[in-house]
Parts: sequence; structure tokens; C-alpha cells
Amino acid sequence: MTTREIRHPLIRHKLGLMRRADISTKNFRELAQEVGSILTYEATRDLPLENYSIDGWCGPVQVEKISGKKITVVPILRAGIGMLDGVLSLIPGAKVSAVGIARNEETLQAHTYLERLVDDLDQRLAMIIDPMLATGGSMVAAIDMLKKAGCKEIRALVLVAAPEGIEAVEKAHPDVTIYTASIDDRLDENGYIMPGLGDAGDKIFGTK
Ligand code: URA
Repeated sequence: MTTREIRHPLIRHKLGLMRRADISTKNFRELAQEVGSILTYEATRDLPLENYSIDGWCGPVQVEKISGKKITVVPILRAGIGMLDGVLSLIPGAKVSAVGIARNEETLQAHTYLERLVDDLDQRLAMIIDPMLATGGSMVAAIDMLKKAGCKEIRALVLVAAPEGIEAVEKAHPDVTIYTASIDDRLDENGYIMPGLGDAGDKIFGTK
């Protein structure tokens, strides 16, 4: 099982607000960051800890810190930017590797037009963020690219996922865990997730 639908009450509530047709740009934007933050909490739940000693107010005290790999957050442009602050609010020291992926309208294949990756990618856990996992084309392309660049551990955080997108990612990259606030019903004939959120990029950026 490589997909985890996070059925936290706060997520259910916030997602319900995001699905409203009349939501404002401000509210959608804020909620995308908040849900991104809760997904981050869940996606980092199993990170290993190590003990170390500090000088506390009453003398030496044993405390814990996250050990092992550091994190790079990988927003898929443009919509992934809409979850970035929410993720960084919990892991403020994470480095950001921006990835731009677009679909060639003739071949319908996803291609990468921007790669601004951290140079120690092979030593970091990559957390890809993209609000909508629809066909899975962009996500698979992003994972392909990160692996080619040396990344060894990848998790994907999406607000809403279609079963078709989950299947595509699980088939191509069974080692990648997907964390989502909702597994929705299906894709429509235009590639929109149903019931979904509509065009998340437009709603985050206030375009259209
Ligand atoms: N991208 C979106 O923004 N929404 C969808 O429903 C599918 C892809």
C-alpha cells in the first residue's frame, strides 16, 4: 500500500470548505497551505529520531532531534507553490527544489522545462508537492527526474488524488508513498478530478 488518505477531522473540514464553488482566492489559498501543513505532519510521522544532550535550565538534559536524511521540498510549478508555505511552516529548514513540468499538447507527454534542484539531492528525502494528482503524468515525470538526479527517497503530498493518478504513480514508482487529503471518484473527459476542486492553480493564483 503506497497511498495514504489522511482522514483527519481538520482535513475533512478544510477540504469541505475548499470544494465550495464560491470560495474566494484568499480562502482557497489559505486552506491549501493549511491542508499542506497537516499532510506534512502525517508524512513526517515516521522520521527517525536520535538523542543528544543540551544544557537545560536545570543542567544537562537529553533531548531528541530528527536524524538521518535532511529534506528537500519539491513543488511542481505552478500549483505546487500553493502548498509550499504550509509545508515549510513545519520544516522551515528544508531546502526547496523547484520543478516545472508541462504537457506537450501534441504528444500529450509530460516534459520538464525547469529543474532547480539542491545539489545534495542524493542525501535528502524529497517531498514532492502538487495539489492535484489527476492522470499522474506530471508526478511520474517529476519522480523520474528526481531519481535520475540521484534521489533515493521520495514522498508525494497532494490535496486531492484521482484513482487513475494513484494507479499510474504506484505502477511506475511503487516505492513512493502518496499522502493525500482525499481519494476522489474519477477523472472527467477533460482530465479534471471529480468532484475535485476545479483548477487548483487558477484558484491559488486568482487567474482565469
Ligand atoms: N489539475 C487541476 O488543477 N484540477 C484537476 O482537477 C486536475 C488537474
